[in-house]
Amino acid sequence: MSGIARLELDGKVYELDTFVGTEGERSIDISKLRDTTGYITLDDGYGNTGSCRSAITYIDGDAGILRYRGIPIEELAGRSSFVETAWLVIFGKLPTVEDRDRFASLLGESAMIDEVMRKHFNAFPQTAPPMAILSAMINTLSAHDAGATQIDDDESMERAAAVLISKVRTIAAASYKASIGEPLVYPRYDLKYAENFLHMMFSVPYRNYEPSPEVAAALNLFLMLHADHEQNCSTSTVRMVGSSKANLFASCAAGVCALWGPLHGGANVAAVQMLQDIQESGIPVSEFVNKVKNRDAGVKLMGFGHRVYKNFDPRSRILKKSVDDVLNQLEKSDPLLDIARELEDAALNDDYFVERKLYPNVDFYSGILLRAIGIPMEMFTVMFAIGRMPGWIANWKEINENPKSRIYRPRQIYVGPTDVEWEPREER
Ligand code: SDX
Repeated sequence: MSGIARLELDGKVYELDTFVGTEGERSIDISKLRDTTGYITLDDGYGNTGSCRSAITYIDGDAGILRYRGIPIEELAGRSSFVETAWLVIFGKLPTVEDRDRFASLLGESAMIDEVMRKHFNAFPQTAPPMAILSAMINTLSAHDAGATQIDDDESMERAAAVLISKVRTIAAASYKASIGEPLVYPRYDLKYAENFLHMMFSVPYRNYEPSPEVAAALNLFLMLHADHEQNCSTSTVRMVGSSKANLFASCAAGVCALWGPLHGGANVAAVQMLQDIQESGIPVSEFVNKVKNRDAGVKLMGFGHRVYKNFDPRSRILKKSVDDVLNQLEKSDPLLDIARELEDAALNDDYFVERKLYPNVDFYSGILLRAIGIPMEMFTVMFAIGRMPGWIANWKEINENPKSRIYRPRQIYVGPTDVEWEPREER
C-alpha cells in the first residue's frame, strides 16, 4: 500500500507521494515540498529522514534484523568469509568461484604500499592516533595510486575496491608498527586476508607470527560483522563526500574521520575503557549503573543503545558467543567479560534501560573479542574501519552509479541575528 499523504498548511491541503521499499518501509516523498508549499522539514540528527534509496543493507531495528543484500547476518557469520562478504556487499551478489579467485588475486597483488608511502610513517610522532594516520594515508592513496581513482566500469571498480580493502590493512598495521618503533612488515602473497593483517601486525624480522586458526577465524568474523550498516554516521559521510564526485579514497578517508567519534566507531574503545574503569575502581556494577541512571557527568553505558536497534543488535549476540568460543579455544579468561555480562544483565533488567530500549550494540563485546585475539586497544576503531571499508565502497559505488544522484546539500532554518549593521572597531 503506498497512496498519498495529505498535508494541511495555512488552510491549504497538499498531496505528497509516498514510497514503499521492498521490505515494506514506508516514506513520504518530500522532494517537491519546498517548491509546492514553501516549507522545508526539520529533523535534528536525521532520526526520521531517509537520505536515499539503497539496495545494500536492510535493518529492522525492532526485530533485530540485519541483512547484507538480502542475506541475514547470521547466515553469513556461520558460512561466509570477510572477503566473500565484501564482494557481496559491493557488487550485490555472492561471488562465483571465478569472481572469488580473481578478487583474492587482486587483494594479494594490491597489499603492498609503495616505498615512498612507507616513508610517510616516519613523519608521524609515535603517539599519533592511528585513526589520524589511517584517514591521512587513505587520502594519500589518491596521490600514490592515481590510476585507482579512475573508476568508469566494473573492472576498474573491482580493482579500486581491492586496492582499498587490501591496502587499508597494510596502512593500519604500519601505523601500529610505527607507534611501537618496530620495522614495518611487508605483506605476504601466500596468506589470506585476516592472516596477512595479523602477520603485518605481529611479525618481526627475526620471527614470523603464525596466527592460530581460531584467532584468524575470530578476526574474519569481526570484520564481516562490521562490513556495512545502512546509513550510519560514517557511511552517510562517505555518501555526502562522494556526492560531490570526490574520488573513492577521499570519500572513504572522510568516513574514517566520522567513524572516529566515541558515539560511533570509537565506542568499542570507550566500552572497554568503561569496563576497565569499573574493574580498577572496584565499585560494584550496580553502583556504576546508578551513575549512568543519575547521568553523573554524562556517564553513559558505552556499547549500549542505538539509533535504529530498539531490540538486540544481532551483531552483538554473535560477538558475545564468539568471545566465549575464542577464550575457551585459547584457554584464556578475561575479567572484563565477566563485568560486561554482569552489566548487560543489570541493564536488561532495569526499567531505565528497558524503557529507553537500550540494548548492547556491536561495540559492547567487540572490544573484548579484539583483546582476546591480541589487538591493542588503540587499534580497536581502526579494526572497525577495516571491516566497514566494503560498506563505504558499496555506498560510494551506489551513489556514483545512479544517474539521478544529486550533490547532497541539506537545507537549514536560520535562527541567527537579523539586519545587523557593521560598526567601526572603536565603537564596538
Ligand atoms: C555504532 O548508526 C549505526 O548503525 C552505527 C553502528 C554501525 O554499525 O555503523 O551500529 C555502530 O556506532 C554503534 C553505537 C556505538 N555508540 C555507543 O555505544 C555510544 C553509547 N550510545 C549512545 O551514545 C547512543 O545510544 C547512540 C549514540 C548510539 C544513539 O543515540 P541516539 O539515537 O541519539 O539516542 P539518544 O541519545 O537520543 O538517547 C535516547 C535516550 C536518552 O535518554 P532521555 O534523554 O530520553 O532520558 O536514551 C539515553 C539517552 O540519555 N541513552 C543512553 C545511552 N544511549 C542512549 N543512556 C545511557 N547510556 C547509553 N549508552
